[in-house]
Amino acid sequence: MKFYIETVGCQMNTLDSELAAAELITAGWERLESRKDADLVIFNTCSVREHAEEKIYSALGRLKHWKTQKPGSLIAVMGCMAQKDKEIVFQRAPYVDVVLGPGKIDQLVALVSAAAATGLQQLAVGIDRFAGKTDRREVMDSFRLYDPKRLTQTRPHVFQAMVRIMFGCDKFCSYCVVPSVRGPEQSRSPKEILDEVKALAAQGCVEVTLIGQTVNSYRYTEGGKTTRLADLLEMVDSVEGIRRVRFVSSYPTDMTDELLQAVRDLPSAMPYIHVPAQHGANSMLKRMRRRYTVEEYRDLVDRIYSTIPGAAITSDFIVGFCGETEEEFQQTVDLVRYARFKNSFIFKYSERPGNEAAKKWEDDVPEEVKKRRNNELLAVQNEISAEWNRSFVGQETEILVEGPSKRESRGIAQEETLYAECEQTDPVADSGAPISTSVEELISSAKNSGLVQMTGRTPCDRIVVFNGTRDLAGTFQRVKIVEAAPFTLFGTLVEQ
Ligand code: 5AD
Ligand code: SF4
Repeated sequence: MKFYIETVGCQMNTLDSELAAAELITAGWERLESRKDADLVIFNTCSVREHAEEKIYSALGRLKHWKTQKPGSLIAVMGCMAQKDKEIVFQRAPYVDVVLGPGKIDQLVALVSAAAATGLQQLAVGIDRFAGKTDRREVMDSFRLYDPKRLTQTRPHVFQAMVRIMFGCDKFCSYCVVPSVRGPEQSRSPKEILDEVKALAAQGCVEVTLIGQTVNSYRYTEGGKTTRLADLLEMVDSVEGIRRVRFVSSYPTDMTDELLQAVRDLPSAMPYIHVPAQHGANSMLKRMRRRYTVEEYRDLVDRIYSTIPGAAITSDFIVGFCGETEEEFQQTVDLVRYARFKNSFIFKYSERPGNEAAKKWEDDVPEEVKKRRNNELLAVQNEISAEWNRSFVGQETEILVEGPSKRESRGIAQEETLYAECEQTDPVADSGAPISTSVEELISSAKNSGLVQMTGRTPCDRIVVFNGTRDLAGTFQRVKIVEAAPFTLFGTLVEQ
């Protein structure tokens, strides 16, 4: 039996797909890269914005025909939309066989088998924490922390891995759906995390990204001792073979000085901090129920830059939130200028039914205004990203080589965004504008010499494109930066 998984959304979903694939492979299934010959198609879904959900429902609509042509085939919907919509998925797409919430991955194989054996639809979701249930423990238990043994073949690269350190969210930002679909915040035990990192290192993994909805809120207490993210970083740093560690996504008020100092002092901790600001106006931050002021966020930016040399900070922003005025929007622009982010993920506000914002305020900023603000903010950010990138020209840095560049022919490596749904685009890549002669020369010299265009990442997570051989993937190399585009640096290998 063969399966195919399609994943949208954030890094949590990418990891969940990897774990789901490992479950199925362990049970004897084979993974395919396209749905054509699959017996089971799984959609791992996102609910953060309406647009993501609509895309999933139309993709499901297209699968109806596929399913009728392939008797016995199955469709499963997992992830946040499965948890949010529950039976509604079966109502809107009656040919779906399995609906599985993000806290129920351990039941995937059993439910798929049950659907195949009985022909009946199967549903497993966590308890809705807003549906009158007050027993937090019971709700928590219904979102099972589940990170089973990893298989190397379900990761894009053996040398890189994501490790979940916490699940769920307790911040309740008024616009967000995550606290309801991913359940209460739960941290994994440090021992379990460390064992997983050691096992990954033994498989050849050199770079780990610790993930959590608010990863720096990590807190685990046992026997009177509390472990925080800074302690975890130290533990991971001591694992033989792990040379790079990052963590995403951080919540501004949980960024302690100890954590920033750990990033500065631990050799494996990379100077990359993703800490979403969401807005630059206090009135909007308050309405969003973020627990800081813009002044506090600016202080955080100052603390990061002054503590961690060469730090890159990235952020998320929502434009067009309920009642956002032009002046308020301009304060977001001001914050982007002030913080000089490496890049920002910018989203147009999308009303999510049932949450505080949907209940209290009208989604009153017209779509064209949201779009214009999105583009305006992106233009400001892109200029800053380009300035940063230009500042690296002439410098040498170490990269972890990932593989051949996806856009090898054009010489532009588009940055893989943290979120599949983000509107971020690379203006150079998208406009088809000619790239500079020296880059053209680099590409043609690669072709002539039999080399390929490879990509790697710097400590602060910037992409470097260079001419090299495929066997460099997974190795650390020194490169000299010779050219810069807004999302990409171009470099040459430095002889060692
Ligand atoms: N509308 C638009 N963007 C949202 N995000 C979260 N909820 C919404 C929403 N309702 C954005 C935030 C968050 C990122 C994952 O998605 O910026 O950091
Ligand atoms: Fe959503 Fe806010 Fe939690 Fe992030 S911190 S997942 S935006 S509720």
